[in-house]
Amino acid sequence: MPAPPPESDAAIVRHRGTLVARSDTPLAEATIGRVARVARYDGSAEWYDRVNAEQAPQATRLAARLLGEGPGRLLDVGCGGGIHDRVLAENGWSVLGVDISDDQLRLARDRGVEVVEADAHELPFADGSFAAALSIFTHTDLDDFPTVVREVARILEPGGRFVYVGGHPCFVGPHSRFPAARGVPELHPGYWTVGRYTEAPGVTREGLRARVGATHLPLGLFVQAFLDAGFQLERFEEPEQRLYPYMIALRWRR
Ligand SMILES: C[S@@+](CC[C@H](N)C(=O)[O-])C[C@H]1O[C@@H](n2cnc3c(N)ncnc32)[C@H](O)[C@@H]1O
Repeated sequence: MPAPPPESDAAIVRHRGTLVARSDTPLAEATIGRVARVARYDGSAEWYDRVNAEQAPQATRLAARLLGEGPGRLLDVGCGGGIHDRVLAENGWSVLGVDISDDQLRLARDRGVEVVEADAHELPFADGSFAAALSIFTHTDLDDFPTVVREVARILEPGGRFVYVGGHPCFVGPHSRFPAARGVPELHPGYWTVGRYTEAPGVTREGLRARVGATHLPLGLFVQAFLDAGFQLERFEEPEQRLYPYMIALRWRR
């Protein structure tokens, strides 16, 4: 007898046709279970590389500063086109990128980045085999961020650093109309929606999320994902260059 569909679970509700979990659900239950992973950036790599060019340098600088200098093996999880990795290599790191999108990895290879095509939910690396890990703008794309954070904890050596730079969950998400992250975000209901969405006030017709969809985690569940994986928080930064923060940058220690 097959398992009942997830919507029969009281903790799981439907929002705009997408399965989501209530924010008061314990994190272990808030993940929706195993789904086939899709390379949503295939066919959009060049387009994304162009639109990413504006925000990428700031994210690179933040990540490089929080990581510090190598040497050591550094895994860039969801490396995409590898736009951040040259700077990290110049800082002494031996960078390996991992991503599910062959199209994105083609750009990374063109930039001279060593890459592996794999699903970040099941990293094909041995326990404790990296000195540091990095992930930039991924929690809004990964289907099950807490699982990926646990995988990162597994492949890091004890004491290893994990730097995460991404969209600010309070102001970037289904609930926040914040085109190009300029001005003051216009907030709507939907902050507590957990999971994937394709239609919401936060999706602009011409933007990235209209192409590839997005995943949302409220701030508390986002931070809890790292704590549940055993990470200790060392830095939590909201870069101040705009009226409202659209990025957060964190350094965790295993
Ligand atoms: C917004 S892009 C960011 C890329 C890169 N980190 C950057 O900052 O330019 C998100 C990336 O996550 C990747 N991704 C999504 N799901 C993934 C998965 N299950 N495993 C590995 N990579 C994944 C996508 O293919 C995409 O390249």
